[in-house]
Amino acid sequence: MEIVHYPVMHREVLENLPIPQGSSTMIDCTTGEGGHTSLFLSTYPSLTVIGIDRDREIQKKATERLSGFGGRFRPVNAWFDEYLSQAPSDSADAILFDLGISMFHYVESERGFSFRSDEPLDMRLDQGHGMSAGDVVNGYSEEALADVIYRYGEERYSRRIARAIVEERRTATIESSSQLAEIIRGAVPKEYRYGRLHPATRTFQALRIEVNKELDRITPALEEAIRVLKKGGRIAVITFHSLEDRKVKWFFKDEAAREDARIRILTKKPIVPSSEEEEENPPSRSAKLRVVERI
Ligand SMILES: C[S@@+](CC[C@H](N)C(=O)[O-])C[C@H]1O[C@@H](n2cnc3c(N)ncnc32)[C@H](O)[C@@H]1O
Repeated sequence: MEIVHYPVMHREVLENLPIPQGSSTMIDCTTGEGGHTSLFLSTYPSLTVIGIDRDREIQKKATERLSGFGGRFRPVNAWFDEYLSQAPSDSADAILFDLGISMFHYVESERGFSFRSDEPLDMRLDQGHGMSAGDVVNGYSEEALADVIYRYGEERYSRRIARAIVEERRTATIESSSQLAEIIRGAVPKEYRYGRLHPATRTFQALRIEVNKELDRITPALEEAIRVLKKGGRIAVITFHSLEDRKVKWFFKDEAAREDARIRILTKKPIVPSSEEEEENPPSRSAKLRVVERI
């Protein structure tokens, strides 16, 4: 089994999410291939990690990777917001969120997350359940598509792209990631085609967020995470784009400003990767880490 994901800001996460001595519990809400979890389990010999992920395939990889830790790793296949809403109050010493998707999804899952490959347009983390990216692209009205692409991709050519998609599907179903990437490339102005970002980047991000309801899960999950956390425990959240980061930042700010505040913010400014890490792992460039403590 090959591990393809590099755990972002792992040193900073370990440093800012200390685990108390003795028997303790951490919830890794986005276990992925288990990079962060593995570091915590090896650093703290009395720690148990409850490892959430909705994706069964990646969870299988994590379970195999972490098998040496025995019962100290407890995988749970669930959406993190749903899991946390059922979890007992004051039961976790630390909670970690490393939002979004993993390198595994781009390079191994074959579910159309990457516009660079020719794969079926699926993008579901909860495989086989709910709407796929293909359903969105082939089923939404032009207006609804433009709205998704604008809201979740912050794509300034959302209308042109939605129009081109609807035009194309009049003659054929849009089935693959590369087919969609070509339609997008053809829909945007020439200078945008050859810019820093591939012209399909933002639309693909938007579809993935829509399919998995990624943004809608963040605030309810953080709300529950505070309840589930023990006093003195910490929540660390890594985000990868401004839509996620704004949600996390404002939720924590509002919560900490309340008269009956349950948390205190430990990162006035988010922690960002070192220049060495950015060089070693370019996808970490946009990462931001925010940490709060339950009071
Ligand atoms: C950025 S990766 C985590 C990588 C991990 N920290 C590591 O070091 O390997 C995010 C993971 O969270 C999962 N995920 C994303 N949103 C989720 C949600 N709302 N509920 C459960 N799992 C989620 C994805 O399937 C993915 O495997």
